[in-house]
Formats: sequence, structure tokens, C-alpha cells
Amino acid sequence: MKNTILVTGGAGFIGSHLVEALAKEESSTIIVFDNLSTGCLENIPSQENILFMKGNVDSEVDVAHLFRSFSFDYIYHLAAVASVSESVQQPLATHRVNMDGTIYLLEFARAQEKKVRKFVFASSAAVYGVEPTLPKTENSLIDPITPYGIDKYASEKYVTSYSNLYGLNVAVARFFNVYGPRQNPASPYSGVLSILTEVTQQVNRGEAAVFQIFGDGEQVRDFVFVEDIVQGLILLGRKVESQANTYNIASGEKHSLRDIIATYETLLDMMVPVAYNEKRPGDIKYSYASIEKIKKLGYQPKFSISQGLEKYMENI
Ligand code: NAD
Ligand code: UD1
Repeated sequence: MKNTILVTGGAGFIGSHLVEALAKEESSTIIVFDNLSTGCLENIPSQENILFMKGNVDSEVDVAHLFRSFSFDYIYHLAAVASVSESVQQPLATHRVNMDGTIYLLEFARAQEKKVRKFVFASSAAVYGVEPTLPKTENSLIDPITPYGIDKYASEKYVTSYSNLYGLNVAVARFFNVYGPRQNPASPYSGVLSILTEVTQQVNRGEAAVFQIFGDGEQVRDFVFVEDIVQGLILLGRKVESQANTYNIASGEKHSLRDIIATYETLLDMMVPVAYNEKRPGDIKYSYASIEKIKKLGYQPKFSISQGLEKYMENI
């Protein structure tokens, strides 16, 4: 079946892996819409059925141009400022992208003549906040504590309300902590395992580098390999049962940051130099998922943390 699929944020870390997987179906055309703020063109495979359009999701003009140029069967909305701590530093700027950008896309999706088969929204475990009951299920208390988490939850509510109010087909994915090749380590706000990986490479090259731990290193996360996230996203796009539903996508495993550093040391046969700093404001201490709900759709994570890290190391 010939489908036109929009991936916003498709030049970024998770988006580019999704694009690669979707483009394997040769009859599909994938449109990547991205402003290249943290993503880059090199992330996108050069293939005839992948087209790139540069634009901002938070610009009504750019999104209008996108929907004048194409008519979509599926929309995966991943473009966002992905850093929790950047949202604490820049709440207004991140709100414009993470919240306004979602509403622009929803507005144009509902106005599109052809009915969208599914609008899948990339939300986050950050919506759960610090309430201590674990693991987080989709019915756990929602209490986001940062602008990032608040905008993700408000966006989720917009997304599901567009189903109730206007009949748009939607699904919401709450990713836990994603890692893997192409995660950009360039900023202090980057995902922790991309920074840790870069530090280990610098040390191996004989450069002076130290991994900065914020807090005591005992914070716990559910680190999920990017290919498992892609598996979950494609299921949410295809399965009718996901309509207007919300799902955690994670590994179902939990690890402290200190455990992960020890795993790197074993895998790479080296010592990682570390320094301890103040905990970041808005940082969540314990976050891990129940994945029972998405398993009912057929999801099965394929990577344990050591399998995922090994594949990551092989593909840097
Ligand atoms: P990323 O920064 O690599 O990807 C985001 C992409 O969006 C980039 O290519 C960037 O250039 C683009 N972008 C940013 N602002 C834009 C704008 N205004 N207009 C158009 N494009 C814009 O980050 P990622 O880790 O791949 O995150 C992808 C999505 O997944 C985000 O919505 C993020 O909030 C969500 N998420 C990520 C994680 C994680 O652990 N990485 C966890 C939960 C949720
Ligand atoms: C991450 C994602 C966010 C997602 C959320 C879901 C990124 C940049 N952030 O946020 O998009 O919604 O998971 O759970 O991908 N840390 C250090 N040293 C560093 C960097 C980080 O100690 O150099 C610590 C942080 O303080 C935090 C943990 O590592 O305790 C994880 O940090 P980070 O990768 O930024 O992820 P989250 O804030 O969990």
C-alpha cells in the first residue's frame, strides 16, 4: 500500500531511526520535516523515497507550507526540544516548540482533506514527575515538575482531545530514556549516555575528559535502545487498538547511573573518570516503566542494556 508518512524531527536521533525503518517499505514516501537545530542531514539515509523539508514546527507559515505540499496518511510527531534541563533554563522558548508546535500540526492534520490514518505523538516519562510509586504504568499519577514535562502532558491532552472532538486518529507514546547511535552528544543538555560514550572515546584517545555526574549517581532510569522505540512507534501507527490510547515504550529494566558506568567499564575494559556535581533542578530520581500495556499490542523489547550498549559501540 502506498503511504505518505510525515516524521517531524526526522533528522534527529530517534526520528532518523524511525525514518530508516519506515523507508524499508519501498512503496511508502517519508517526508522529514526538521529545522536541523539538533538534528542533521547526515542522519537521514539518502534514498529515493525519503524527502526532506526544512522548517519549524512552531511556525504556522512553515507548517502550512508543509501541508500544502503533501497529504499524509501517517504523522509521527517527534520534533521537540528534548532536554528536560534546557526547558528549565528556557521555559518560554521550549514551550513554543514543544506545545505550540504540537497544536499547529494537529490543526493542519484535522483540516487535511484525506483522513490521517494515525497521528502518533512522542511524549515522555517526564509526565509522571516524582511521585514515588513504581514502576510507572499508564494509569500512574501524572505530576510533571518541569516545563518540558508539563508541555508534553498538555500536548498529550491536545492530541487525545483532537480524537474526541474532531475524530482524528491518534496514539500517544511515552518514551523512557532512549540511547543508541546518532544521539548527539554536543550539548551539556544531551542525553546522558551520549555524553558518557563520548567521554569514554576521548579517554581512549588519550584526551583529558571527565564524566560529570549530577547528584549522587544513584538516580535510576529505564534505558531503552532506540530500535526498540522504533518497534513500538510502528506498532502504535499500525494497530487500530492504539486509537486514542497512551503507551509507555521502554525496556522494562531499571539501572542506576553508577551501574551503567560500571557496565561501560566492563564492556570497554577501562576506568571512567568521574566528578560529582549538584543535582540538576527538576531532575527525577527514580524513573522506570511497566510495559505490560504495549506488550499486549505485540511489543517485545529486543535489547538488554548490555546488548544495546554493545550495538551502540559497534555503530558509533
Ligand atoms: P533530537 O534532539 O535528536 O531530535 C529532535 C529533532 O527535532 C531534531 O532533529 C531537531 O533538529 C528537531 N527540532 C527541534 N526543534 C524543532 C522545530 N522547532 N521545528 C522542527 N524541528 C525541530 O532528540 P530525540 O532524543 O531524538 O527526541 C525525539 C523526540 O522524542 C522528542 O519529542 C523528545 O521529547 C522525545 N523523547 C526523547 C527521549 C530520549 O530519551 N531521547 C525520551 C522521551 C521522549
Ligand atoms: C531524558 C530525555 C528526555 C525524556 C526523558 C524521559 C534527553 C536529552 N532527555 O530526560 O527527552 O523525555 O529522558 O525519561 O534525551 N546526567 C549526568 N551527567 C550528564 C548528563 C546527565 O549525571 O552529563 C544525569 C541527569 O542529571 C539525570 C540522568 O543523568 O539524572 C539522565 O539525564 P538525561 O539524559 O538528561 O535524561 P532525563 O532528564 O531523564
